[in-house]
Amino acid sequence: MRKKVLWGVGLAALALLLAACAPEATQSTLKPVGEPAIEQKRLFIAVVWIAAAVFVIVEGGILFLVIHYRHRKGRERMPKQTHGNTRLEIGWTIAPALVLAVVMVPTISMIWDLARPPSPGALNITVQGYQWWWGFQYSDADMTVGSGEQRPIEIADVMVVPTGREIYLSLEAEGGGAKNTDGTPDFQVIHSFWVPELFGKQDVVPGRTNHITFQVDEAGTYTGQCAEFCGLQHGRMKLRVVALDPDDWELWVVNQQQGPALVSDPLAKQGEEIFMNPLSGGRGACTACHAVGDVGAAAAPNLSHFNEPTHECFAGCNWETSDVDALKAWLRDPDAVKMGAKMPNYQLSDDEIDALVAYLYSLT
Ligand code: CUA
Repeated sequence: MRKKVLWGVGLAALALLLAACAPEATQSTLKPVGEPAIEQKRLFIAVVWIAAAVFVIVEGGILFLVIHYRHRKGRERMPKQTHGNTRLEIGWTIAPALVLAVVMVPTISMIWDLARPPSPGALNITVQGYQWWWGFQYSDADMTVGSGEQRPIEIADVMVVPTGREIYLSLEAEGGGAKNTDGTPDFQVIHSFWVPELFGKQDVVPGRTNHITFQVDEAGTYTGQCAEFCGLQHGRMKLRVVALDPDDWELWVVNQQQGPALVSDPLAKQGEEIFMNPLSGGRGACTACHAVGDVGAAAAPNLSHFNEPTHECFAGCNWETSDVDALKAWLRDPDAVKMGAKMPNYQLSDDEIDALVAYLYSLT
């Protein structure tokens, strides 16, 4: 019996220890980098201490009673039984109510704080939850591509933001990329947008627009992921937020505003042809879903600046953009790489893949 208990305790301790091992873990709500994440951590820590005090008092009391009044030899009599103690009962009703009232004050004030409208200088970004990747549309009037037209800057998988400026996100669910006959997005599922170091989770619900206001204090890359089960590749619906210092941000915006780079390399040029036109043998065109510059649709990630340095990852941010082999494998058979992916397998030849890769890498 004692051996069994020891084994049980040992295994439980081991499981606890192993669960704590995650050297590569980048997503931590305990390392906040800006509002509101810092405020949220402060509130969390405060509540943890209050909860810890309650735990120690209650568990300590139980342990004390169990040990102090335990059964001993020679104490065979039944202890005196008490029923109803008005003073005690009022006490243990009021005490938790008081604790909850204390916790409620900062919690409600934080809820109000999170719901306040953004400052006039905030950067507006529409976050689009697709199956299974995130799209980002910069909706401010000065964040358009080209000179005459009013097309917003659009990127996917990596959201680029400036440091030290309030960001106001509008979250929208876009389904799988295609539209139903009534114009609504297909596959209407709920996602949840979450970058632990920057802000708490917020649901992305079809038919309504939720919001997140946040700010990043330090330049860097922050990882996030979808936090609501949304289908086959929910677990691979990741994203990164790249926060740039104001100077780098200005350069990034100018590059985006200029539209895609002109292609000069012959192989890349060949890739551009393949990308822009329906493929031989009755296959479609890449532009049926993807856009580069003015050409193409918005059913899949916008690839205008696929190889721009901040666009670190692709296909739901599961592979590094610099990983040529991953990119080739993805073009060869998307479903084999990411089961259920909406990108069709166009049976591309090795030559076609090489040309397409050269083209995509020329888009800086
Ligand atoms: Cu999107 Cu889970």
